[in-house]
Parts: sequence; structure tokens; C-alpha cells
Amino acid sequence: MRTLRIDILTLFPDYFLGPFTVSMMKRAVAKKAVTLKVHDLRKWATDKHQMADDVPYGGGAGMVMKPEPLIKALTALKRGRKNVKTYLMSPQGKVFDHGMALELSKEKSFILVCGHYEGLDERVMNWIDGEISLGDFVLTGGEPAVAVIVDALIRLLPGVVGDQKSVENDSFFNGLLDHPHYTRPRVFKGMEVPEVLLSGNHARIERWRKLESLKNTLKKRPDLLKRIALGEKDLDLLKEAREELGS
Ligand SMILES: C[S@@+](CC[C@H](N)C(=O)[O-])C[C@H]1O[C@@H](n2cnc3c(N)ncnc32)[C@H](O)[C@@H]1O
Repeated sequence: MRTLRIDILTLFPDYFLGPFTVSMMKRAVAKKAVTLKVHDLRKWATDKHQMADDVPYGGGAGMVMKPEPLIKALTALKRGRKNVKTYLMSPQGKVFDHGMALELSKEKSFILVCGHYEGLDERVMNWIDGEISLGDFVLTGGEPAVAVIVDALIRLLPGVVGDQKSVENDSFFNGLLDHPHYTRPRVFKGMEVPEVLLSGNHARIERWRKLESLKNTLKKRPDLLKRIALGEKDLDLLKEAREELGS
């Protein structure tokens, strides 16, 4: 099995002690689907106080991450390796989504850089292949963004999630939102599980799930339907979903 290698450059390596050691992330590492190498940027800060940040030219609030430790780190991490891309976590980047997770999950290795303070000295951008954002808000540092991105993409690596079908049925995988799920008890505070799910009729259950998935998408994210090409059967179901919702 192929092992995806992800190098993470951060001023706060301890941040990852939690996210990378539990649940699916722990499992992905144990199964050797992914190798997560967290590097402390201060290791490459050469002055006696291991300073990785400094005051901004032009004055003003906040500190700026110095270029030297970052470039030394990137040079060291790329030594002897070909075509290793470097992505900076940044609110100014392309917003992360399922498509990007899929693309990254197919790479052999890449480097993720966590910014902090006001961000990096702009000259470092010459060493950066792309900027990835979690959305239109500002985090204190890139660490939570890396944790989210790595979590989303390791789910897509073969063998990490026990049943591949559960990944394929998740929202966005086929361009739609997931259908609703139910578990025991059969009746909860007077609310019953839909009868079809108890029928044991797999064809009916599949049809119901697809219909509910289309209804969910119509209700919550109709924009997604403009981006996918549905087959004839699904178009009939979409018509039915629209009728049921009265939309
Ligand atoms: C306080 S932010 C700096 C924000 C920067 N001054 C700006 O306004 O574009 C510090 C670091 O957190 C990370 N960060 C903040 N918001 C982010 C977001 N929405 N997505 C990904 N990373 C983010 C980046 O690595 C950034 O360098």
C-alpha cells in the first residue's frame, strides 16, 4: 500500500499531539496510509534565542515570521526529494473543499506550512506553491487548518475508513449531500424510524436514500445541483424530490 507523507512546519508542534493521536487519524498512521511529520520551525532558527518572528518593517501591530528559518526548513525538507509541493495555510488562499482533499490525497507527499502572528515575510511566497484557506475568517495560526485538512483527506486514502462505501456515501463525494441516518431505538419520543428502513428491501432502501439525499441537497445546498450531471434515473428522482418539497 502507498504511504502518503505529509510534512508540517509549525511553531507549535504540541498542537498536533491531540488531533493526530486519536480516532481515524491514529488509525491512518497505524495502517501506514499516511506518515505525519511535524517539524518545529524553531529548529531552523539560528540566533541564540531561536527567534522565528520579528517586528514588521513600517511599524504597526503584531509580529512577522522571519524568512530564514522557513527557507532553511523548506530546503532541508525538500533535499533529495522531487516535486514536493508546499502549501501555506492562509485566509487569502483557495477555500478548501472535497475536490481539494481528493487531489491532495492522490499526491505522494507535500509540505504544509502553518503561519502565525501577522503571517510570513512576503518574500517566502517564492517558495510556496499554493495557499489553502479554511474559509473567510481569521484563525490565530495555521495549525487548526492543517488538522482539518489532514483529517478530511486521510478519510479518502484507501483502507483508512473500514467500509469504503461509507466514504462514498458521504456528502460531496458524488456531488450531493448525504441522506438522513437513524439508529435504535425504533421509536424515540414518539418519532418513528421511516418504515422503508425496516423493510429489508435493499432496492427500496437505496431508492429512499437517493431521494432523501436529493431532498437534502435541494433544501440545504441547491447550488451543488448545478455542478453535477445526473443520470436519467436520478433526474426522475430529482423531479419527485422537488414535488415532495413543493419547490
Ligand atoms: C492571524 S493569521 C494572519 C492573518 C493575516 N494577517 C491576514 O489577514 O491575511 C495567522 C496565521 O493563521 C493562519 N490562518 C488564519 N486564518 C486562516 C484561514 N482562514 N485558513 C487557513 N489558515 C488561516 C495562517 O497560516 C496565518 O498566517
